[in-house]
Amino acid sequence: MLPSRVTLVDVGPRDGLQNEKQPVAAEHKIELVHRLQSAGLREIEVTSFVSPKWVPQMADNAQVMAGLRRRAGVRYSVLVPNLKGLEAALQPARDGWPDEVVVFGAASEAFSQKNINCSIAESIERFAPVVAAAREAGIKVRGAISCALACPYEGEVSPDRVEQVVRLMQGIGVQHVGVADTIGVGTPRRVQAAMERALKHYPLAEVSGHFHDTYGQALANIYACLELGVHCFDASVAGLGGCPYAKGATGNVATEDVVFLLHGLGIETGIDLDALVDTAAFVSGVLGRKPVSCVANAVLAK
Ligand code: HMG
Ligand code: MG
Repeated sequence: MLPSRVTLVDVGPRDGLQNEKQPVAAEHKIELVHRLQSAGLREIEVTSFVSPKWVPQMADNAQVMAGLRRRAGVRYSVLVPNLKGLEAALQPARDGWPDEVVVFGAASEAFSQKNINCSIAESIERFAPVVAAAREAGIKVRGAISCALACPYEGEVSPDRVEQVVRLMQGIGVQHVGVADTIGVGTPRRVQAAMERALKHYPLAEVSGHFHDTYGQALANIYACLELGVHCFDASVAGLGGCPYAKGATGNVATEDVVFLLHGLGIETGIDLDALVDTAAFVSGVLGRKPVSCVANAVLAK
């Protein structure tokens, strides 16, 4: 039986905008978050506290966090790669803090080096004090495992390697793991095999899927995860996204496409599809292009 309710985390403001060539003003990022929460999103990945030399688009992280009009019941998360990032995220008074931080590792050594400039083992050593300090401060910690299906530098990645990283993350106290198909080449059975390894170590409610739609497989992969009972997915409004360190990685699966699928299956999301499509039109307008989403384009063409 498929889950009756699914939680979607909109990662558009972070994963979506981190790779944009053109600058996006902080006020537009803030408005994007506000529109997402008005559309019913209850989990939003707002920004990342990473090195501005590595990802200049996220250099306005503090400004964006400070500009949020927070809504009760919404969980705001940010990426942090190290203690410096966590300290910066916790710089303002407590009501300016994120509710959740995301440490991000990889199931591929080459990608770990390219993305965060260290090996997998070193990344875990680096994350351990971040996890401890965040939890001590009462902040939930999610772990993202990039390249869980394949790596742009190393090729196919086996479920064994995914499980190794899952166990390492569990060992340092990460409370939730996200299995990420960074370059969007996964297909349903392979995705299930990777997910099953995460589910060996984490409960259903603490495993999520993060799919890029590069090869058009994301919705099929989400359906395959639903079959396993997984009920939390990252998605990105208007299909924004890509990773600066994964050449050829196009956008995340569009939130509105996932919502259309889920509602069609009778699965609740709490999201208003029309408001979400308006949000996709808004952010696409800011970027001067059409949404990369079948549903947004179909609805907007009516
Ligand atoms: P490094 O160069 O090895 O770090 O980078 P370092 O400790 O040697 O520091 C170098 C400089 O960066 C220093 O400044 C530090 O102060 C500064 P300098 O002395 O040269 O002026 N620095 C920082 N500044 C601000 N915030 C920080 C920070 N840390 C160091 N937190 C580092 C290592 C991890 C910092 C770097 O590699 C980095 O920032 N990487 C982030 C890459 C990234 O954001 N990638 C995209 C997100 S992951 C993703 O999109 C995948 C995902 O969506 C899932 C999927 O799809 O697979 C999650
Ligand atoms: Mg991503």
